[in-house]
Amino acid sequence: MRETVKGRILSGMRPTGRLHIGHLQVLEHWAALQEEYECFYMVADWHALTTTFDETRELAQNIREMVLDWLAVGLDPKKSVLFVQSHVKEHAELHLLFSMITPQSWLERVPTYKEQVQQFSQAGKDISTYGFLGYPLLQAADILVYKADAVPVGEDQLPHLELCREVARRFNHLYRVKLFPEPQAKLAEVPLLPGVDGRKMSKSYGNEITLAASPEEIKQRVRQMITDPARIHPTDPGHPEVCVVDLYQKIYNAEAVADQEERCRRGQVGCVPCKNLLAEKISAALAPIRERRQQFAARPGLVAEILAEGAARAASVAAATLAEVRQAMGLV
Ligand code: TRP
Repeated sequence: MRETVKGRILSGMRPTGRLHIGHLQVLEHWAALQEEYECFYMVADWHALTTTFDETRELAQNIREMVLDWLAVGLDPKKSVLFVQSHVKEHAELHLLFSMITPQSWLERVPTYKEQVQQFSQAGKDISTYGFLGYPLLQAADILVYKADAVPVGEDQLPHLELCREVARRFNHLYRVKLFPEPQAKLAEVPLLPGVDGRKMSKSYGNEITLAASPEEIKQRVRQMITDPARIHPTDPGHPEVCVVDLYQKIYNAEAVADQEERCRRGQVGCVPCKNLLAEKISAALAPIRERRQQFAARPGLVAEILAEGAARAASVAAATLAEVRQAMGLV
């Protein structure tokens, strides 16, 4: 690992299988950070189990698919430590030790907690487990076991980071040490893209464009994108600010989007040609990713090797932290 000036980064993603272009923005942010920080990128398989404990058949495959997407997008095992959470047992030990000092009420009042339990319950699934309540605490352990300075995450994760800092402060205070830093969120500068229907992009809504999508699949998805509902005829003046195609063009057709918006407002371009152009742009952007992915996927043993090496490197840092933690807590 290279010595870096800016500090250490940790982030994680639950292995949900094939990633989509919403993830692409996140991953490009992760890839850019590799140049300036010491980065640890983790497959959060234990976190996945908090909600999918009863559907684990595809877990191993999902981990592999996700890591292939990571590599295809440019996460580089020579620059960053790529690993699987459950391969580094120190995360679990730190989680357990943190559980001794974390009031249950801190976890119960994390805003996403009750919300999620309710959402899952409406879908017929009970996730009011001990493990799910501890989700943010496990995340705090993930971050603090590497003493990470910054955590690239989406806004939805801010309450979890707040809890992480509270736990770090409490630990330092209780044991009169300066062991843990207070990690800060690093929000991506780009606004996250919605799904084609305008809702949050998610496999469960079926509104996503996967990274591995073929040009034909991309075309189909773009056709489903919601445009200005007030626009009936191509000559009606359009309102790009309420158009999903426009949001995508800002990213995938950045050089021409201003011009395209102007023509839309004047009723000089219809939604169909606009969508066709966007589909071409997205296909062109994803083509090199798709190719690289195929090359990585064709090398047997590659992902396993990368993850084994990543786990070893992560474990050596995590083990050193745990030695300090045990010492601070009188576990000698
Ligand atoms: N909770 C994160 C998510 O759903 C995933 C995650 C697990 C994570 N551990 C982490 C993110 C540590 C950042 C740091 O996206």
